[in-house]
Amino acid sequence: MKDTIKQLVEAYGPAGREEQVAKYLASVMEELVDKVYTDELGNVIAVKQGPANAKKVMLAAHMDEIGVIVTDIDDNGFLRFSNLGGVSPHTLIGQRVRFADGTVGVFGQEKLDNIKDLKLNKMYIDIGVTSREEANAKVSIGDAAVYHREFSQQGSRIVAKSLDNRISCAVLIEVAKRLKNSPHEVYLVFTAQEEVGLRGARTAAYTLDPDYGIAVDVTATGDTPEAPRMAVSLGKGAAIKVKDASVISHPLVKNLLVNTAQAHDIPYQMEVLEWGGTDAGSIHLTRSGIPTGAVSIPCRYIHTPSEMVDLGDVEHCVQLLVGVLEGPLP
Ligand code: CO
Ligand code: ZN
Repeated sequence: MKDTIKQLVEAYGPAGREEQVAKYLASVMEELVDKVYTDELGNVIAVKQGPANAKKVMLAAHMDEIGVIVTDIDDNGFLRFSNLGGVSPHTLIGQRVRFADGTVGVFGQEKLDNIKDLKLNKMYIDIGVTSREEANAKVSIGDAAVYHREFSQQGSRIVAKSLDNRISCAVLIEVAKRLKNSPHEVYLVFTAQEEVGLRGARTAAYTLDPDYGIAVDVTATGDTPEAPRMAVSLGKGAAIKVKDASVISHPLVKNLLVNTAQAHDIPYQMEVLEWGGTDAGSIHLTRSGIPTGAVSIPCRYIHTPSEMVDLGDVEHCVQLLVGVLEGPLP
């Protein structure tokens, strides 16, 4: 699983430009499920067929990551940029980004009297050129870049860019590997454009019209120095979402997750996230409404180049999802 995670987090896939990750995921899933296809928005949909009249369960893990997008190039070849998803300017200082073709850039900022005044429009990307012409040969307006960081592991903790949400993509792969005889029709969906508004999940859910939806994504924790209060910690198990800013989990799904965790002795914690959203936010509002919940992997430093998760939690999320898919549905 470690190799898969490394491949996934180091891949390039900002919102709307998920092709490289999608290609990798489709090739991995081809061996594990009955059918894999990519839809119009770029979602990768893997199907494990169930018996006739089986209930349909959609698991969704977004495969896009946050990034930046080039808005302008100046005479000296410095790039101006905007955000793709939730990018804080303070996390960019001293960081590198990488474009689809491998071009690497570093962030710089204009002179500021107060660091609190740092905004994305006070920053630029330096790709090591000296003119607009030279820059244009490498990068065009509208090109997107992602954090440039390698995967690392220390004990049970891993640190990487885009663990939000490639770690959940790895979870879905592992679920596909372990799922033997599900009585249900299972859709493992790697969604596009979550970071810019839960977009891919919306069309995928409409097409698949599942009986139940479960989003798999990272969530914040309250276990670091002076963190905002939150009853989720790294290493204490799979988080079962109660709510975030996009969804209130359907009681049928939330209780199914809790009961499954208890029946299988899987460590779990209840998650109330006061902000943020997940694909569950889109799925539950599809058609006339779909009972939806979410399983979350606790993650520190979300939306920075160094997100951190615990592999024990990852394993417990896999076990919980397999448990749900192999058991009866409400
Ligand atoms: Co995110
Ligand atoms: Zn996410």
